Amino acid sequence: MIKKSSKSRLTVKQLAEYPGDTLFERIARAVCRAGTLPAKELYEAWEVARRVRRRYRGGRVVDLACGHGLLAHIMLLLDDSSPEALAVDTHLPLNAATLSEAMLARWPRLRGRVYLVASPLEEIVITGDDLIVSSHACGMLTDRIIDRSIKAGARLAVLPCCHDLARSDTGGLEGWLDGPLAVDVTRAARLRASGYAVVTQHIPEEITPKNRLLMAHPSGPAPF
Ligand SMILES: C[S@@+](CC[C@H](N)C(=O)[O-])C[C@H]1O[C@@H](n2cnc3c(N)ncnc32)[C@H](O)[C@@H]1O
Repeated sequence: MIKKSSKSRLTVKQLAEYPGDTLFERIARAVCRAGTLPAKELYEAWEVARRVRRRYRGGRVVDLACGHGLLAHIMLLLDDSSPEALAVDTHLPLNAATLSEAMLARWPRLRGRVYLVASPLEEIVITGDDLIVSSHACGMLTDRIIDRSIKAGARLAVLPCCHDLARSDTGGLEGWLDGPLAVDVTRAARLRASGYAVVTQHIPEEITPKNRLLMAHPSGPAPF
């Protein structure tokens, strides 16, 4: 049985672990065939995407600080009404293209709709129609993603990590809450103060202890 927090790559040796016909197992088999992705990233991307898609449908998906970019692919698989997805990272791993090709080979309807973009996220033009997602954008990078989303009026979902207590805003709450939680609560409060409705959830802790999922959408229009 594979440990969901494992940083070992999934390869064809693990194919037998995912014998079923659920979408998750089919994705897992494509990931195994690609042979490029740590198990943990598969489970994280899946758990984030399914929660986000229960709330937010449609829109161009913009996966910022995407690493291997699996989240962008799963977001389209879970909702075909999104026309396309950008997967953006300053240092796209070489394996990102290999993984993407494995996903496109299995789901040809994604071909021509997922763009791997090697760029700082600060240079990506975001609009109010976009759906911003980001899994484990370290420290202040999550704050920059929130800033960009608010400026554009875009829906967003972030799974923060590597909290930088020296630089991030703790809202003065660290007397009551542990530091990283204070930072995330302050992020949520900031989104509310910016006219956003906030939704907070967790992904399973057995995958990662950095498991707080912060979703938000401009509070005027309906989230879909
Ligand atoms: C911890 S990794 C997360 C990768 C992936 N989202 C995941 O969940 O596995 C953080 C990523 O942020 C990227 N990154 C750092 N600064 C960035 C920036 N300014 N713009 C875009 N990506 C950036 C890094 O190259 C790295 O791939």
